[in-house]
Amino acid sequence: MRVFHLSAECYPVAKVGGLADVVGALPKYQNQAGLKAAVVMPYYDRKFVQENEFDTVFQSSTLLGTRRLYFEILKEKTDKLGFELFLVKIPGLIDRVEIYSYPDETEQFIAFQLAFLDWISYSQQSPDLIHCHDHHSGLVPFLLQHSKLYTRLAATPTVFTIHNGQYHGAFGWDKLSYLPEIDLSKTGLLDWAGGINPLACAVKCCWRYTTVSPTYLEELTINSNGLEYLFYLEKAKGVGIINGIDTAIWDPKTDPMIAEKFSIKLLPKGKQGNKEALCTRFNLDPTKPLIAFIGRLVIEKGADLLATAMEESFNEHPGQFNFLLLGAGDKETERELIQLRDFYPEQCAAFIGYDESLAHLVYAGADFLLMPSRVEPCGLNQLYSLRYGTMPMVRTTGGLKDTVIDFGDEGGYGIRYNNASIEDICNAVSRALVLYNDEKQLLALRKLMMALDFSWDRSSKEYITLYESLKPTI
Ligand code: ADP
Ligand code: GLC
Repeated sequence: MRVFHLSAECYPVAKVGGLADVVGALPKYQNQAGLKAAVVMPYYDRKFVQENEFDTVFQSSTLLGTRRLYFEILKEKTDKLGFELFLVKIPGLIDRVEIYSYPDETEQFIAFQLAFLDWISYSQQSPDLIHCHDHHSGLVPFLLQHSKLYTRLAATPTVFTIHNGQYHGAFGWDKLSYLPEIDLSKTGLLDWAGGINPLACAVKCCWRYTTVSPTYLEELTINSNGLEYLFYLEKAKGVGIINGIDTAIWDPKTDPMIAEKFSIKLLPKGKQGNKEALCTRFNLDPTKPLIAFIGRLVIEKGADLLATAMEESFNEHPGQFNFLLLGAGDKETERELIQLRDFYPEQCAAFIGYDESLAHLVYAGADFLLMPSRVEPCGLNQLYSLRYGTMPMVRTTGGLKDTVIDFGDEGGYGIRYNNASIEDICNAVSRALVLYNDEKQLLALRKLMMALDFSWDRSSKEYITLYESLKPTI
């Protein structure tokens, strides 16, 4: 079965968050299971692209309204990622460094989708399925069915995965002319709340949509930035499949990015070695419990609560634990966290920025990982931390609810709380500190966490079952 994954991100080519991790892993596991899955993404002028060789496999031009855009499809030569990787390059539009946030982002992502469709259409390819991820490729299911240009491919099944339902990629009707030769009687499918909404359109037009956890499928009907009613209407078409992790990359036994490799058998020493390396780097006392946060500093992650919650906890438990933050995002939140670090230099360290290797060391060296997310469609951080024997402290929401059981409950191994509030975070910290003093119980829990299986083996099979249930109708 030939499948194209379309995505704005893919690890290790270009990553902002978990979308990249998923698209960099799922196709690999699908290929191991016998599929022929490939990834198609925009070209970014970044390290991976600069350091690897590509062949130009197709060249043509497409029209974005009245603007003619010349494009190339590049293919990575070696398939070393475990899947074929194709890049869409459009000089002057899709050849930049950053992944998001350009003022002409709408044009970038529409052109990306048109170039992809033109390529597979003119080169007479007939994929068995097209799997689109997030709104950046959300117009593909519509265009396949309702643009005269792609009639040959109209019966191609499409799956649309929602990694983040808060972002829709919406734009105004003045840009309708960007969508070529469409059936004008179908424009209602593009619409939500008076604009063209690629996420809503994808949900309406795809054959099936998936969310990255079962709980998030439910939550979208309550909180999806204005699409709640749509998700209520289209619920039957949705299926929740929890993300996996790439256990070849995220493995404490082999991870080249951590200070000391370890396994369950080497607990607690191996983990302590990483904690010491981390604490030395950030000038923290390694004998104290270490609570960490890794992530985008945005409201959805509850990042705005961190500085106050940590300050209150430092005051409640003076000198009894340390906090380490790795993240970047909202500038006001960054400022607050830097202030916190300057005020409590012995208890708090903050690295403002993005650092993939440091993230690995933090998962390995921290004792607890705090995730007070308001919205968490799946969350990968808690899965990585479990694999490295670090206890997740999570708000009960989305994928966090589906993957973390409180250690006070049967079979549990994490800390859960109900509200993204200062009070709940402080209570979670207090519970963590009590547990830390019970070395025997904590060690047993670490062993339990590290033995859990959140690999893609299981979840990738669920996608394959879904694909196989979709057969073209004409
Ligand atoms: P999201 O995709 O919403 O950001 P996920 O939990 O799915 O959340 O995935 C986040 C991914 O990004 C993880 O691989 C995490 O380690 C990584 N990450 C987030 N912020 C940083 C950072 N500042 N430095 C390094 N890695 C980061
Ligand atoms: C999104 C979500 C995150 C999820 C990731 C990968 O960025 O915010 O919860 O884990 O996508 O699916």
